[in-house]
Amino acid sequence: MARIVTTFPLPGEASELLRPLGPVAGPDGWRDALADAEALLCLLTVRVDAALLDLAPRLKVVANAVVGYEHVDVAACRARGIVVTNTPDVLTDATADLAFALILSAVRGLPQAERSLRAGEFHGWGFWDYLGGDLPGKTLGIFGMGRIGQAVARRAAPFGMRAIYHSRTRLPADAEAALGAEWVDLDALIARSDVLSLHAPLTPDTRHAIDAGVLRRMRPGSFLVNTARGALVDEAALVDALRDGTLAGAGLDVYEHEPSIHPGLLELPNVVLLPHVGSATRETRTRMAMLAARNAHAVLSGHPPLTPVR
Ligand code: DGY
Repeated sequence: MARIVTTFPLPGEASELLRPLGPVAGPDGWRDALADAEALLCLLTVRVDAALLDLAPRLKVVANAVVGYEHVDVAACRARGIVVTNTPDVLTDATADLAFALILSAVRGLPQAERSLRAGEFHGWGFWDYLGGDLPGKTLGIFGMGRIGQAVARRAAPFGMRAIYHSRTRLPADAEAALGAEWVDLDALIARSDVLSLHAPLTPDTRHAIDAGVLRRMRPGSFLVNTARGALVDEAALVDALRDGTLAGAGLDVYEHEPSIHPGLLELPNVVLLPHVGSATRETRTRMAMLAARNAHAVLSGHPPLTPVR
């Protein structure tokens, strides 16, 4: 008889917030507890579709504890009067920092250097050894200029990079000026970026936005960085572009078919591969869980959610 069901372990403060509202079930056996659930706290690893909603006829809120919500059938929820919430803002800096970590790692060739050291190949400082590229003077292209894209743009100037961006919605001129970011059309973004960093949500329109044709038009020697969603990129085409040298390298935190990774990526030395850790700091994950708990609490208490998906 759980009123609240969670698919992941909650921090103590989230449990304390929710417990007065009724029994909390999960993560063990969470699916079996859905029959009485009025709130579901979940992550991107659970598909919230009509079949799942059928198991939860009393559900009032899906408190999704990540910012992306392509795994939630929002229309199906809306049709049943279920509120959907996500966790914007609280993970912006952690994700933008990770995008920059990938940019630095890929452009400076850090994983290659580290692997070489661990393999016992470092025999002393060498003037022409382990050379990467500079960031100052390079153009950082940002695809998708929401909160995270803007936070990445803010990090460009301190590294001496010029920021250009393409987004469905163009920012007001004063916001562009404050960020030091120039809007360009998609063709110019692709042709001018030395590093192309992806920050768009995954929608039917953005799936495979970076396909073989786009990869062919990228600057020779450029880098692709993806901390958004893997399916923005045609992963097989990316492997080809990395193999034939169209791209100098890539930094990836997300994959088209997570958790499996295209075997070609695993073989390439010039790709930095991370296991979807964009928001993985203790502080950020705690904030995400708390925001999801607050959203569930608000809806179950008859208040508007803090961060609804509209
Ligand atoms: C999100 O919130 O959508 C992220 O991918 C989790 O890091």
